[in-house]
Amino acid sequence: MIVGILGGGQLARMLALAGFPLGLTFRFLDQAADACAFPLGEALVGRFDDPRLLERLAAGAAVVTYEFENISLRGVESLAPRVPLHPAPRALAVKQDRLREKQLFAELGIPTAAFAPVTSEDELRQAAKRLGFPMVLKTRSQGYDGKGQWIIGEEGALGQAWRRLPRVPLLAEQFIGFDREVSIVAVRGASGEEAYYPLAENVHRQGILLTSRSRPADPAATIAQAYAQRLLAHFDYVGVLALELFQVGGRLLANEFAPRVHNTGHWTIEGAETSQFENHLRAILGFPLGATAPVGAVAMVNCLGKLPDPRRLLGIPGVHLHLYGKAVRPRRKVGHVTIRAADEGDLEAKLREVEAVLAACEA
Ligand SMILES: Nc1ncnc2c1ncn2[C@@H]1O[C@H](COP(=O)(O)OP(=O)(O)OP(=O)(O)O)[C@@H](O)[C@H]1O
Ligand SMILES: [Mg+2]
Repeated sequence: MIVGILGGGQLARMLALAGFPLGLTFRFLDQAADACAFPLGEALVGRFDDPRLLERLAAGAAVVTYEFENISLRGVESLAPRVPLHPAPRALAVKQDRLREKQLFAELGIPTAAFAPVTSEDELRQAAKRLGFPMVLKTRSQGYDGKGQWIIGEEGALGQAWRRLPRVPLLAEQFIGFDREVSIVAVRGASGEEAYYPLAENVHRQGILLTSRSRPADPAATIAQAYAQRLLAHFDYVGVLALELFQVGGRLLANEFAPRVHNTGHWTIEGAETSQFENHLRAILGFPLGATAPVGAVAMVNCLGKLPDPRRLLGIPGVHLHLYGKAVRPRRKVGHVTIRAADEGDLEAKLREVEAVLAACEA
């Protein structure tokens, strides 16, 4: 069976790695000739809205999916009549506009930071009056890894900020002084069957995910699951979906969702009964879902902008290394490390060791 994937980055690569044991073969479409999933399947290089390439992606495929949101919605929609396509384009359409995404959260009764659309200096000032300072400005589309985001600290900075902001539709958000960031990775099968991984607790550095730690039996998981469930039901969703949240006291505020496998679920490769990648494939192919139960204490650390020393990392018991085969650029995600341990204390100690090795390679 052939699985077509729009996007050929590390998520596509890890989907393929999870799919090989199931006898699946892969075809990828990406604009970059050196996309890191390409060695794992048939490579199509070009634009995401090229009808000829989309035709080739879909030809004979059992299903088409995507691993990246910043792709042509029209291109994806054009595939729908030709080949089974999951998750549905309606989820992608909402995801491609941060305003629609926040409005959907509100519609579904999922709390968020206060927000306002901004297309003029006047709207920026109105938003500031309502949201206060600091205030976060985000481009409504095309953002990822903290790109396309600015923080405005005070009223006096508004004029200069407006002159520097790009002339594209923006979303202003109240800045949340959260206690922690968490996410829930959910999966829904074609028959409506649902499963949830344990809550992940996440730490970002300069807007980019650095570490993700599985928190089984976390008291916040029930509400996070309930919010994710509303999204799954709303979209009649098939596949993996991740929901990122800020925790403030006992409250969870939704930040964003991702209609795909997610960086905060990478720990599931070694740390859960069935990985998010395998479960995404099972879901979109109409197979039964696998168990999402964690296997021991587990955490994940991203390798950002530097290749780590494999010898030193793999010398730490319980450590697994994933390198994506991507060219190294500053702050780029080039791999990740999974750390498994017998208990939380042991995990904490190993996490410190891994961080020290990664920091040494940054020096
Ligand atoms: N309103 C906010 N208040 C406080 N911190 C925020 C806010 N919005 C974003 N952040 C911080 O910036 C990070 C990245 O923001 P967000 O998830 O919206 O952007 P992104 O570029 O889509 O990120 P990614 O693709 O890495 O998930 C968040 O995880 C959080 O740490
Ligand atoms: Mg995010």
